[in-house]
Amino acid sequence: MTTLDIPELALVALVGVSGSGKSTFARRHFAPSQVLSSDAFRAMVADDENDQSASADAFEALHHVAATRLRRGRLTVVDATNLQPHARAALVRVAREHDVLPVAVVLDVPEALAWERTEGRADRTFGRQVLARMQRDLRRSYKQLAREGFRKVHVLRGVEEIDAAEIRYEKLF
Ligand code: GTP
Ligand code: MG
Repeated sequence: MTTLDIPELALVALVGVSGSGKSTFARRHFAPSQVLSSDAFRAMVADDENDQSASADAFEALHHVAATRLRRGRLTVVDATNLQPHARAALVRVAREHDVLPVAVVLDVPEALAWERTEGRADRTFGRQVLARMQRDLRRSYKQLAREGFRKVHVLRGVEEIDAAEIRYEKLF
């Protein structure tokens, strides 16, 4: 079992390529109301969770809700790929503005498995090259994550480690 220590008030950024299991992990470990997903916010602003042209508006709304929740002292999980430094920087900023600790949880599965899962989904239509680019971004993210201001960077490698993960909440005081 891998125990992930997470402060009881934290902004948790899931990090992983499409098909790595972020939404599944979020469903398993957190209440639906704690999870802000980029897909849900695209759907909210554009009626289409795959409308990439809605991403900027969707993330603006997501960051706003995240900020509101943190101001109210609610643990918040961001279910998005978070593979780009600028995407993570926005989350670290929101957390810091509210004196909340940002934590990253990286889900790293073999690219072939992520592709197999993605191919089987009607709601994911991007090509193999897009996934390959995400995988490169993930590799690059490892070095960057350590210096981006995340209080903790938990890395789960492979399906077994992801399956066996348990969250343990750390009391703040
Ligand atoms: P995006 O939203 O596209 O970024 O993907 P995601 O990282 O949220 O992946 P998601 O959790 O949606 O999982 C993708 C597919 O893999 C889904 O069909 C899941 O049912 C499947 N899946 C995810 N995690 C597991 C797992 O631990 N075991 C098995 N067997 N299937 C999984
Ligand atoms: Mg998802």
